Amino acid sequence: MIINKPIDMHLHVRQGDMLKKVLPETTSQFAGAVIMPNTIPPITTLEGVLKYKEEIQKVSGENFTPLMDVFLQDFTEEEIRALKDNIFAMKFYPDGITTNSESGINSIEDIYPTLELLAKYNIPLSIHGETNGSMLNREREFAPTYEKLARDLPNLTIMMEHISTKELAELATKYDNLKATVTLHHLLLTLDDLCGGALNVHYFCKPTVKLATDRDALQELVKSGHKNVMFGSDSAPHPLKNKFKGAAGIFSAPVILPALAEFFEGDESKLQRFISDNAINNFNLNVVDKSVELVEEEWVAPRMVGEVVPMFAGKRFNWRVK
Ligand code: NCD
Ligand code: ZN
Repeated sequence: MIINKPIDMHLHVRQGDMLKKVLPETTSQFAGAVIMPNTIPPITTLEGVLKYKEEIQKVSGENFTPLMDVFLQDFTEEEIRALKDNIFAMKFYPDGITTNSESGINSIEDIYPTLELLAKYNIPLSIHGETNGSMLNREREFAPTYEKLARDLPNLTIMMEHISTKELAELATKYDNLKATVTLHHLLLTLDDLCGGALNVHYFCKPTVKLATDRDALQELVKSGHKNVMFGSDSAPHPLKNKFKGAAGIFSAPVILPALAEFFEGDESKLQRFISDNAINNFNLNVVDKSVELVEEEWVAPRMVGEVVPMFAGKRFNWRVK
């Protein structure tokens, strides 16, 4: 299979030594990726965006396009104008909902003026949509907020990130301006994989993987090829020692193309749509012209990348990236 311009629409690459170790796992498989801004400190200024982009490009070289996100705050029009040509989207984290999101938003109403400006300047809004409710309900409880935003701001393109439930799989095809990204782990895993037997800390993330009915609805949605639906890995590396302190995040980057090739049973056109075409068409994306070849040969996923244990560590796949 040859995949043209694969794009990861949701990626955490961290900073410093960790970035140097994990980013090559993505650049060997992707032409571009949307880079999440929940660094320490978070990316909130033009200066921060440019500095982080430079750090990424020093490691990736020219043959990879980082699409930069900014951590959404109550920005002025002047701030947004300064940012707009250097970013792909703004990322909305409800306050404290996940890793490094302590400076997130408390009330959506407060942020409406900023959201209207995003619509005015054609900047997409990407959302980690969870309430602070009970774990399995957090995402479905956020659904009315997604719908309200989609209706109130018809000129704003909104991305529901890493959708994990049947309800959101249904919502993903209801509005033209409400897109969705789906991860590898929500597509393949359930709570039973996380804690049905021995606890597997490497499958712990936010939003948590859910029930088989949710996973099946996501699989059906992705296989339908709907234009609103795009691949975003949410690959989120944490050093092994932090995973045992409860850090949320699954490091899926090393196994993405072999696992998706298996999921789509070698159907190149379906994979192409999910991992590239829909994103390019939805956002008019410009990434380096890079194709990645997958061959039907046995490949074993790495057991460690630096200090991080990847998803499916040590598992055998029938496809490998050439
Ligand atoms: C992400 C991280 O570690 O940065 N963790 C996660 O569980 N997905 C943050 C996020 O995207 O929620
Ligand atoms: Zn994420």
